[in-house]
Amino acid sequence: MHLPSHLSPEMSDTEFSAIAEIAHREAGLVFTQGKASLVQSRINRRLRKLGISSFSQYISLISSQQGENELKLMISSLTTNISSFLRESHHFEILADKVLPQLLSYARAGGRVRIWSAGCSTGQEPYSIAMTICSVAPDVEALDIKILATDIDENVLNTARVGTYSERELANIDSNYRNNFFSKTQNGSGTDFQVTNQIRNLVFFRELNLLRNWPMKGFFDVIFCRNVVIYFDEGTQLSLWPRFESVTASGGWLFVGHSERLPEKLDTHFQNVGPTTYRLPNKSNTSAELE
Ligand SMILES: C[S@@+](CC[C@H](N)C(=O)[O-])C[C@H]1O[C@@H](n2cnc3c(N)ncnc32)[C@H](O)[C@@H]1O
Repeated sequence: MHLPSHLSPEMSDTEFSAIAEIAHREAGLVFTQGKASLVQSRINRRLRKLGISSFSQYISLISSQQGENELKLMISSLTTNISSFLRESHHFEILADKVLPQLLSYARAGGRVRIWSAGCSTGQEPYSIAMTICSVAPDVEALDIKILATDIDENVLNTARVGTYSERELANIDSNYRNNFFSKTQNGSGTDFQVTNQIRNLVFFRELNLLRNWPMKGFFDVIFCRNVVIYFDEGTQLSLWPRFESVTASGGWLFVGHSERLPEKLDTHFQNVGPTTYRLPNKSNTSAELE
């Protein structure tokens, strides 16, 4: 049953606080009172979809065992999923010029290379990594290189897996990349672009809440966690950096978003080696097991 939008209820301060607390507990997301109308309009959409007429009923639902799936959908409705291809392009330049030469030599000598896009949203980030790799390593299919792409939000992962984007979404992609790494598909009213199998085959999408257990074994040579922790409170951010260190290979790289920083006094071995770019010193260990 769908309620007409003019019947949408008003969210009280107590109801807002209850929902903000659940979003914080479940996903680390922080919503201050200033975001109340945004939260209200997003949750209202869930209420209308479910035919529920009050926020208190909705809060009871997501707090109950039967509401487990709805809780996931609520978190999904509250996350910000904006992304774009080759976003913060300096990271992809560093990847091509400084990171990949060494990793490719290692892979060509039989080594395993693992890259993690943590908070991958609709796929533009891991596919940009894959395109960067393919542009410097035409022999990639013969190498053991994999990109793990994770997100808390099942909806964005489904979009990412399909890998189809509008022409507008390809604005940052030059014609070389567009011709080599996308094929055209019809969408009824126009043309879309789908990543080729060569690109798609490098990326493995999995649902993962960064606040919970990370089931992967081994180490990552490169981690992208960009524009994700910005939505978390400081304590959650501070607890994540050492966890990223614990799964980063020696000499491994960590790229964070443009407004994110590892605090200077943080107790990790990451060194700031470029704009929003961090690296661990070298010691020996083994790459991550994805399956
Ligand atoms: C703004 S997007 C960033 C996408 C991409 N990394 C980029 O920079 O373009 C943030 C993503 O983080 C995800 N996210 C939020 N909280 C999360 C959590 N607790 N665990 C995993 N992913 C989370 C959201 O679902 C969203 O897709």
